Amino acid sequence: MNTVTVITGGTSGIGRAICKKVSENSSKDDGIFVVYGHNDEMAQSLKEEVSGISEAEIVLIKADLSSYDAIGIIKNSILEHTDHINNLILNAGISTYASFDEYTPEMWENIIRTNLNIPVFLVKELKSIIADKGSILFMGSHAGQATYSSSLVYSVSKAGVLFAARSMVKLFDDRGIRVNAIAPGFIETRWQDNRSEESYNIINRKIALHRFGTPEEVAELSYHVLTNTYLNGSIYDVHGGYDFF
Ligand SMILES: NC(=O)c1ccc[n+]([C@@H]2O[C@H](COP(=O)([O-])OP(=O)(O)OC[C@H]3O[C@@H](n4cnc5c(N)ncnc54)[C@H](OP(=O)(O)O)[C@@H]3O)[C@@H](O)[C@H]2O)c1
Repeated sequence: MNTVTVITGGTSGIGRAICKKVSENSSKDDGIFVVYGHNDEMAQSLKEEVSGISEAEIVLIKADLSSYDAIGIIKNSILEHTDHINNLILNAGISTYASFDEYTPEMWENIIRTNLNIPVFLVKELKSIIADKGSILFMGSHAGQATYSSSLVYSVSKAGVLFAARSMVKLFDDRGIRVNAIAPGFIETRWQDNRSEESYNIINRKIALHRFGTPEEVAELSYHVLTNTYLNGSIYDVHGGYDFF
């Protein structure tokens, strides 16, 4: 394989839009490894959709990123096809809107493990096969920079992701590998499926553009950060002008 991209959570929402963007810019000898955890139907439909966009090889990897076992599954699946990775996108993430009083240690640990610990250890495990001048991109959140009391554990996990991304830069400077993060605000994905009109209205009043972003808008920025060869060690906001009042 020539240019190899690995993306977690690439079958839905933001990750799916990034997959499509990457495939638009890929050619026959390139490979895109798409990790997902549960929904086979979404994964198959992504594969079919991307096959219509480019001739790049799409490899689906089913691995539940709430378990450390996923790390070995992902690495072995990649090594069955290629010996290197050029772009690694750590996008999969989960949240909860349970109230603080409903929190359990298990719930807290599951979200921190899925959103922060496993992406970090995935980088550690894949480090040796990331090509020189490669690119690592973490999906953070504006919730990791501002305090959203509505999801304390999610905010804490994403603050950790953003800090980890910046802290990793020096681990890779001898090989020219860049590490960056994206921090989206409110994006129109299935995460918003149960949001009431009232909630939309409250949030839209706080966004200067008065609307949620699209996965494609996040994908545009993500692809730019992934491929621009002088972007390193930074966090890129994409929130339509949130909370500027
Ligand atoms: N939507 C927003 O407003 C927003 C805002 C800021 C940041 N973000 C961040 O953007 C990222 C993507 O969010 P999204 O809104 O696009 O979510 P989404 O539509 O729910 O997609 C999530 C993706 O992650 C995969 N995934 C979820 N749990 C997994 C697990 N345990 N193991 C492996 N894969 C798993 C899903 O596949 P399966 O369902 O098959 O497991 C799916 O491909 C997340 O990190 C999120 O924190 C989202």
